[in-house]
Amino acid sequence: MIRSEDNFQYLCSVDEIPPSRSKVFSIENHGNKLELAVFNLAGNFYAISNVCAHQRGPLSEGSLDGDIVTCPWHGWKYSVKTGKSHHEGGDSVSSFPVKILDGRIYVSPVPERVGKRTSKPHEAYQKLDSAVRQHLENMNSSPLLTDTSVRVLGISTTNMNDDKTPRTSTSETALQFALDYAKKRYSAETVMLKLRQLNFRHCEGYYSKNSKACIFPCSISEMDQEDQMIQVYYRVIVWADVVIVSTPIRWGNASSLYYQMVQRMNCVQNQIVTHDNYLIRDKVGAFIITGGQDNVQHVAGELLSFWSQMGFVFGKFPFVGWSRGWYAEDTENNVSASTASEKFKHDIINTVNGAVEMSRLVKANRYDRRVLESRPAMQDSVQSHSEAS
Ligand code: FES
Repeated sequence: MIRSEDNFQYLCSVDEIPPSRSKVFSIENHGNKLELAVFNLAGNFYAISNVCAHQRGPLSEGSLDGDIVTCPWHGWKYSVKTGKSHHEGGDSVSSFPVKILDGRIYVSPVPERVGKRTSKPHEAYQKLDSAVRQHLENMNSSPLLTDTSVRVLGISTTNMNDDKTPRTSTSETALQFALDYAKKRYSAETVMLKLRQLNFRHCEGYYSKNSKACIFPCSISEMDQEDQMIQVYYRVIVWADVVIVSTPIRWGNASSLYYQMVQRMNCVQNQIVTHDNYLIRDKVGAFIITGGQDNVQHVAGELLSFWSQMGFVFGKFPFVGWSRGWYAEDTENNVSASTASEKFKHDIINTVNGAVEMSRLVKANRYDRRVLESRPAMQDSVQSHSEAS
């Protein structure tokens, strides 16, 4: 018997949830909305919170194996009988009493067990998270800057095996030249990250499941303590004023390591789309693109497109390219030919000057803050757009 004082609420008939399937319900408890996932395990029904303790993924859409449901977003596992986790750390979601009467399912909104988030991300992940928050707070609140110091980050995306067959890279040599020039001419602090020396996984496409499953800092960095994309995120988002990316041309495109890195930066750009959160503030991008053969303009177009979408701005001559043309199969001469080219050095200097001067302008004027603060609210801009059309 269901007594009214038990506050059980009718959900649906048992036929509406087939075996090994689940259904989601919204119920209320004293004005609070609860989202429940109700599972049918061989004719027995169990209710747990539909909201994953990790990042609020929908457990009703997870896969079921025995009594274990796996969250569809990043794979945390819970028993549908108890709401307790099967992953390290002991996180859990609330579980709720279920009663069946005359083929009808009822649930109490008062949990049997209250869920808890107990685990914390590893230290490097937490440090990155708080450094980025602090940085954004400073960028939102600090006054105009008169400080003209500049930090230039170089990201070398060429690939080679430094242990087995070390060699000199054309693109990396040019990047080193650019950093040395910035140091000498502008007393810039410089750092070069060599992607081939960092250990990081490919993007695993959580965005494709749901845009909110793509979080920042990236969930892969959270799951994998060895993931060194954390260094790239920190240097690009917090540390640098100017980021210069160098890449060789590989079959008409940037290097595969470059793509591996930028796919992991989807989470930076996605913050704009899903959270209206702009992580890149007052930063300037520039590129060095080299190839034994050609396709500089195509690669420059791709790079400019991605980095502009992240929120970078660009100075005069934002990229410099160098190639020897289609018939230059004597690739062993690429480095010597590039370092002997006064024109190439001249163009690299132009690109660095353009980037550093632009960095001073945007920092001194707090360019990004002015742009972001003068935006109309999303609703207003949509309304004025439809009125105009
Ligand atoms: S595992 Fe559920 S939201 Fe990440």
